Amino acid sequence: MGKRLVAPSLLAADFANLQRDIEIVNNSKADWFHLDVMDGVFVPNISFGMPVVKSIAKHAKKTLDVHLMIVDPDRYVKTFADLGADNLTVHYEACNHLHRTLQSIKSEGMKAGVALNPHTSIGLLEDTIQDIDLVCLMSVNPGFGGQSFIENTYQKVAALKNLIEKKNSNALIEIDGGVNATNAKRLVDSGADVLVAGSFVFKSENPEATILDLKERIG
Ligand code: DX5
Ligand code: ZN
Repeated sequence: MGKRLVAPSLLAADFANLQRDIEIVNNSKADWFHLDVMDGVFVPNISFGMPVVKSIAKHAKKTLDVHLMIVDPDRYVKTFADLGADNLTVHYEACNHLHRTLQSIKSEGMKAGVALNPHTSIGLLEDTIQDIDLVCLMSVNPGFGGQSFIENTYQKVAALKNLIEKKNSNALIEIDGGVNATNAKRLVDSGADVLVAGSFVFKSENPEATILDLKERIG
């Protein structure tokens, strides 16, 4: 996995023109597609599920970074592997046996990600960080696009970077929520590798140009 990546979140795309928005990402400088799957239980919102992920996978030509905001994600690890997910991220708060879940994701040939809610401490990853390919730091409370960035995220990025180095882990740091042109540079300077951006990209006049702008700011 490379560094300093941009992952547009299709949550902010126009679902009636999904193929058009997928092609925008395909033709842009974006690195990954970020797909937000919500179950209405772990988070107070429902987004989309398997049939939509399957249709996206048919057209998307870049890494599929799937973010599961669902309870008991173990039930669906194989399903998402079969659907074409490259990275599968589960929430720390949704896993009773995180270590087992990580092994199960990797045994299906995917990269294993763990997402932390804004209230969840970095230190809780002390014993699993070596088994994690990607840590997704939520910089908003998960469930909705278009929320404001939580400033405390900067210090969490720095703490996570320290932990990764201390434990010789190869985990990438991904930031998810409220990312825009104002905070992007400071986030990568603090140690972030991957920036997810939903509204900032798709609610802009020219999403392809906005992606390029983000890439140039962090490049
Ligand atoms: C929030 C999702 C995010 C969301 C980000 O629960 O995990 O990926 O799409 O959207 P923005 O960039 O609009 O905050
Ligand atoms: Zn997400």
